[in-house]
Amino acid sequence: MYCTLSEAVFALKSGDIAALPTETVYGLAASIFEEDAIRKIFSVKGRPLIDPLIVHILDFSWLDRCAILENKILTRAEKLAKKFWPGPLTMILPKKPCINDLLTAGKQTVAIRCPAHEIFREILKKTDFPIAAPSANPFGYVSPTKASHVAKTLGDKVKFIVDGGECKVGLESTIVDICSNKVRILRPGAITIDDISNCLVEEIEQYKSIVKENDIDCPGQLAQHYSPKTQLHLIDKNDDVSQFCGKKNAIILLQRPVNLSTENIFWLSEAGDLNTIAHTIFDMLQTIDSMDFEQVFCQTPDNTGIGEAINDRLSRAAAKWRKNR
Ligand code: TXA
Ligand code: MG
Repeated sequence: MYCTLSEAVFALKSGDIAALPTETVYGLAASIFEEDAIRKIFSVKGRPLIDPLIVHILDFSWLDRCAILENKILTRAEKLAKKFWPGPLTMILPKKPCINDLLTAGKQTVAIRCPAHEIFREILKKTDFPIAAPSANPFGYVSPTKASHVAKTLGDKVKFIVDGGECKVGLESTIVDICSNKVRILRPGAITIDDISNCLVEEIEQYKSIVKENDIDCPGQLAQHYSPKTQLHLIDKNDDVSQFCGKKNAIILLQRPVNLSTENIFWLSEAGDLNTIAHTIFDMLQTIDSMDFEQVFCQTPDNTGIGEAINDRLSRAAAKWRKNR
């Protein structure tokens, strides 16, 4: 199941799939030129074919293998790549004909990012082809931030998993659509709307926090997504947590409590640092799932900086149990 970097390169070159680490979350990878492998990604994840994949490239010079770059779009892409690549930013661009329609779910645009993780970068160098990779989780479940998460949820279906340690960021990349007249954020991430608007010196349209299932712009952004198996409820950080205590209940705090008054308390960081919370949240939800709780109550951070992306993921994760939706 676990394999070396060279074995993963061999698998990808032979038209198979492999799970690879990135700085955001683990990805389930295939060559963009291997249609059967791309099909396999969708079937292994149980992902609907209407939900397009992200293409990973080594650097800006590869962009032009996949996307049509002209005028305003080129200027925007150059500025963003210079500032944020390699790193957790995905750009939506007009696609070149060589990009398989299966991969883009029939769209005329393609999502492209340049990952920062050294192992992924080494694999790109060795394969010398762009690599399609969605997050390596069963569709709708919490994204994997450790190789063991992939092994646990998809290990029976994925022969090659490269263990590159814990993903540094822990949340999926920010997705920015730069093809439209107005630049739009389709998914918040570690790179914030302010970072992007400061870089482009343009007004940016905010992502729609909950997008409907049939939304054609970003079909992967379902209202209900990233859900753990344990019933998840979101609570305010000022709520008195003792009201949520119970034998079958877990409580997730943003930071270590001063005194541990009740049992089944977990925390996402020592002192409430948002980057640490982002890094830990998906792992925490998977840990809770491996225990025997019926419900989990999780505090939500302020909506500033990466806090917005954390709240976006938490709100989707809790959507199926939210009353009066
Ligand atoms: O950090 C990440 O982006 C990770 C790592 C593995 O790179 N990948 C990831 O992929 O999160 P995935 O498939 O779980 O999420 C990709 C999202 C989906 O919501 C999909 O709908 C959207 O990107 N997407 C892909 N192509 C698109 C396009 N042409 N237009 C709009 N949205 C697109
Ligand atoms: Mg995903």
